[in-house]
Order: sequence, then C-alpha cells, then structure tokens
Amino acid sequence: MTGLGRLAEHSRWGKLRVPAHRASSATLAGAYPFLAPAPCQVGVPIGTDAITGEPFCFDPWSLYAAGRLTNPNVALAGVIGAGKSALAKSLAVRAVAAGRRAYVPGDPKGEWAPVAEALGGVVLRLGPGLPARLNPLDAGASPEGRSGGARVLAAITETLLDRPLRPGERVALDVAVHSAECAGPAQVGTVAAALTDPDPAYALADGTPPADRIADGTELVHALRRLLRGDLAGMFDGPSSVTLDPAAPMVVVDLSALGSDDTAVAVAMTCASAWLESALTTHRTAHRTGPDTAGGRWVIYDEAWRLLRSPALLRRMQAQWKLSRAHGIANLLVLHRLSDLDAVGAGGSETRALAAGLLADCSTRVIYRQESDQLAGIEAALGLTDTERALLPVLPRGCGLWKLPGSSYVAKHRLHAAEAAVYDTDMAMRVTGGGLS
Ligand SMILES: Nc1ncnc2c1ncn2[C@@H]1O[C@H](COP(=O)(O)OP(=O)(O)O)[C@@H](O)[C@H]1O
Ligand SMILES: [Mg+2]
Repeated sequence: MTGLGRLAEHSRWGKLRVPAHRASSATLAGAYPFLAPAPCQVGVPIGTDAITGEPFCFDPWSLYAAGRLTNPNVALAGVIGAGKSALAKSLAVRAVAAGRRAYVPGDPKGEWAPVAEALGGVVLRLGPGLPARLNPLDAGASPEGRSGGARVLAAITETLLDRPLRPGERVALDVAVHSAECAGPAQVGTVAAALTDPDPAYALADGTPPADRIADGTELVHALRRLLRGDLAGMFDGPSSVTLDPAAPMVVVDLSALGSDDTAVAVAMTCASAWLESALTTHRTAHRTGPDTAGGRWVIYDEAWRLLRSPALLRRMQAQWKLSRAHGIANLLVLHRLSDLDAVGAGGSETRALAAGLLADCSTRVIYRQESDQLAGIEAALGLTDTERALLPVLPRGCGLWKLPGSSYVAKHRLHAAEAAVYDTDMAMRVTGGGLS
C-alpha cells in the first residue's frame, strides 16, 4: 500500500481500525442513546416513527408502570385540521380494543357520537328540546356522600353567576342540598325550593337568622332558575334519563345541540363529568367483585380550549386530574395551542394557575402543526431543539412531535380505512362548501 493509501486507510477507520458496523436502529439506540431515543413500542400502535420508520406505539398506563412517564395524562395541541381529533379517536378506539374504556364528558362539535356508536358505546345528547336529562345531584349517590351533589351544584351556580360563591351562599346551598336529599331523591327543583324556604332549625343551629339564610340563597335561586324555567330548562331538572352501564366501552356526552353558548356547555360538562365520576366509582366496585378487562380509562376533553373558560369547571377538572392515578384514568386535553391555557384568565389569576397546573400534570405532550408565533411559547414551556422548532410549523396532517420525559419522537399517525370513514370531519366542510368546522 502506498503512503497515501495508508494515510487514507488510517483516517477512515481511525487508529483502532474499527470495522464498519451495521445494526437496526433499535440496537443502535442502545449503543448510541444520545442519538436516538429508545423506540416507543409499548401499547397500542399509533403509526410510524418518522425518523426511524419503525412502528410507534403509545400506552400511558404501561409507560407509567415502566417509569417512563410521571403521570398518564396527555396534552395534545395543533392547528385546526391537523388531525388532533383523529388521533384522540384512534387512541380511544385502539385502547378499547385492548380492553380499556373511553369517556368523552363533553363533545361540543358532536363528532364523537359515530365513534361511540361504532363501538357499541353510549351516546347522551344534551340540548334544548332533546329528551336526555342529567341530574347533577346524582353525584350524591357516590360514596362521596352528600357533599358530592352540593359540590357539583356549587360549581354549576358559580358558572351561572360567573363569580365564586360567597361563604354565606355556600352554606345556604350546602344546607339546601342536605334538606332536599333528606326529603327524597334530590333534584335542582327541590334544592331551589329548599333555598327559597329554608329549614329554620338548620339556620338557627348555625346561628343564622332564617331571614339571612333566605337572603343568602336569593341569587342562587335566580341562577338555578335558568335550569328550571330558563333557556337551559329540561336538561338538568329532573331524574337522569339514563343510567350509565359501567361495562360500556365508550361513553360520549354530545353537546353539539348547545351551539356556541359557553355557559351552557360549561354547565353541561360539569354535570356530565360528575355523572361520569360517580360511574367511575361504581365501575371500580364492579372491578373488585367480578372479572374485568385490563381496566384503565381515557377521559378525553376534545376542544378543551372552549371548556377551559369556566373557572368552576377548571377547578373540578383539576381535582379529577389529581385523582387520575388512583382511578386508573388517563386524561387527554386537546387544544389548538399551548397559549390557550394562558388565555383562560389574567396573569396571576387563579384560573390561569389552574390551567397551567393541568398542563404541568400532563407528562406527555404531543404537538401537531403550530403557527410560527407559537414557537417561543412552546419552547419556554417544553424546551425544543432547533430541529424541532423548525419542524413544528411545517408538520403535515397526522404528524406530531411527541415529547415524553427525557425523549422526543416525531410520529406519523396512520389511520385504518374503517377509522377514516368514521372520523372524517372534513365531510362537513365538503358538504357545506367551507367555513371552519
Ligand atoms: N393521520 C391521518 N391520516 C389521514 N387523514 C387524517 C389523519 N388525521 C386526520 N385526518 C383527517 O383530517 C381531517 C381533520 O382531522 P381532525 O382530526 O378533525 O383535525 P383537528 O381535530 O386537528 O381539527 C379529518 O377528516 C380526518 O379524518
Ligand atoms: Mg378536532
């Protein structure tokens, strides 16, 4: 070999003359963990890893059990039409195939009903003139006891009044719910009656003149009137028209008939989530006594940016979030952008802190296509590499950046033809010829 040849050989293999080595990306990830994260192949298949071409899977329960996630909750953000709902639906449907269940406590666009129907699940359609009813006081039937109904009704009246309840109002409501529950199955109407005509014995026992108790309840009665005789009448004022079958693979509360009324949506969501919560407790009892599937439930908040506008609902969601691990629940929060969470209230407000807390409690963040003006905020919240930053504004439909603690993936969600037919939200656009769906 000539001197030049020897030099070339030397620079090619280095001093150790290590031969070239070929291996699968799975093996190489072990050898060079700093170059590629360990493949995510636990759980239901999502599609393909866009970098390695390998299958990409996700299952928050197994990843949590394996210590790769600090909690099972997921935040999913992306522009309209990026494929967020399609991903949420695949996560739910494929989890059901793996023996889990999925609950959608509020679907403002009415696009989940066909999914639940395809799976043999339950759809509850709430809206003016529709036959379905949810009694918010049903939550009292849970082992939480009477405070369950009182808490739900407090959240509802706060939403209706658009302010927190004063201490006197809170007591008046608590006592009224208790009196109504003692007299039989409590409903919004019987609680309103107990607020108008409070039991003087309870008032005196609390050291409150009965006239003051009536005064404390006045604005609550005005607020509840909306559920009894106002524009929301017929949906929450009476016994629930459905009992939840704990074995149902999917339960969807369709709120599309409520239109763009955010207060109505928030009230309905509060009732629906309380109703589902008591069902979750029932389910856990059934789980202990009989054979069951793998357990684990998705609770999916699609179009969550709309739901987050109600502080009372946010507070309830936060409480449920905290319980998620104990209940085997993985919450999925679907947003347009992470800054939706900043838009819920003024800087420093309780609402803003609650929304930030929800994101902090999502250890998986999936980012679909984002407008460039969002990048700085995402970078501050999640940390992005230069490549990830360049990628986010150009991600095609169905492609997302998945950030798990300590590892990032770019994954392409693959839809089965049967799924695509059921999930198609572009159809409405094609039929009506445009507009935002
Ligand atoms: N991974 C994908 N492959 C093919 N089509 C998709 C994929 N994701 C979404 N779509 C289609 O794109 C359209 C918009 O998706 P959708 O999930 O409703 O978007 P978003 O919820 O982000 O607004 C739907 O018709 C859906 O069927
Ligand atoms: Mg959507």
